[in-house]
Amino acid sequence: MGESAPASIPASIPLTVSGAGSEDGIVADEKRNKRGAGVSAGLDDERPGPGAAADRGQTALELSGVTKHFPLRRRVTVALDGVDLTVGKGEFVSLLGPSGCGKSTVLRLLAGLEEPTAGQVRVDGRPPAALVGEHRLSVAFQQHALLPWASVAENIALPFRVAGRPVDRARIAELLRLTGLTDFAEARPRQLSGGMCQRAAVARALALDPEVLLLDEPFGSLDAVTRRRLNFELARIWTERRITTLLVTHDVAEAVLLADRVVVLTGRPGRVRHVEEVGLSRPRSGRLTREAAFHDIVDRLTALLDGDLESGAFPEEDGDTRSGRRLLPRRAR
Ligand SMILES: Nc1ncnc2c1ncn2[C@@H]1O[C@H](COP(=O)(O)OP(=O)(O)O)[C@@H](O)[C@H]1O
Ligand SMILES: [Mg+2]
Repeated sequence: MGESAPASIPASIPLTVSGAGSEDGIVADEKRNKRGAGVSAGLDDERPGPGAAADRGQTALELSGVTKHFPLRRRVTVALDGVDLTVGKGEFVSLLGPSGCGKSTVLRLLAGLEEPTAGQVRVDGRPPAALVGEHRLSVAFQQHALLPWASVAENIALPFRVAGRPVDRARIAELLRLTGLTDFAEARPRQLSGGMCQRAAVARALALDPEVLLLDEPFGSLDAVTRRRLNFELARIWTERRITTLLVTHDVAEAVLLADRVVVLTGRPGRVRHVEEVGLSRPRSGRLTREAAFHDIVDRLTALLDGDLESGAFPEEDGDTRSGRRLLPRRAR
């Protein structure tokens, strides 16, 4: 069982991810900060630009010794058990694991939608609700949850209205461009393909230029080709903005393609089983996915997950979709 990490980690401590009984916790080093030269981003804030090292010394997201129990009738489901996990500022971490292992629970804890049974959850050193309240943290759930009666542009503008801020039309136009939806700004969600709705949902999550982006299987319901294309789009958007991102997925290739690190959880109850440093250069492209180095990592992680399945932690029949739907509170659907 995980020993609780210190409640707050000084900024000077290198980024670590570790789990209960895990010897796989690793310490970030300089090597992985080497980036391929990227496109010019025109950044207007202090986030590290492409090609620059993310500021790994600074912790953005932190779970320390987090355990989460869900009482269910007379039983208690132990969803997470002693999870220690940190994500550095400007880092992209993928969270991988079999269905039901607590991935969405991690995200919901970080979004302030759940409280841990034990342990501590911090975003920028504060309870998640603080950042959420300041509209600096965005979540995109598995179901895109666009308003059916509103146009794509209005859906993307929604966070401005929720935050009581004037709608920044230039920002909406930029997001439409970024997600390739400019020609569909006035369309209603039902007039779009599933992939376009997912893109609109990601655009909406980006609307207020969040510092933290939590993505729960945002491309889960898509066909492989569309999913791959959106992966590259997300990689490109992330390269431009360098938002601290935690992506939940059960797609190994997607996890590796996008992330600086991949954290693998065990089957229920979720514990950090392994942390994989993805030392592949950026920007990530289609060519990369044909390289041996990429496949080595994907194969290694797949073997890890297969081992997990063989040891009895198996996905539910229809996996995350069902549990996600069943378990999300109505307001998040
Ligand atoms: N609100 C809830 N009430 C009861 N059980 C829950 C709730 N949320 C999650 N669980 C249980 O916790 C475990 C982890 O769920 P979840 O985080 O959704 O897993 P994942 O996203 O990895 O598929 C599952 O066994 C699930 O049934
Ligand atoms: Mg889930």
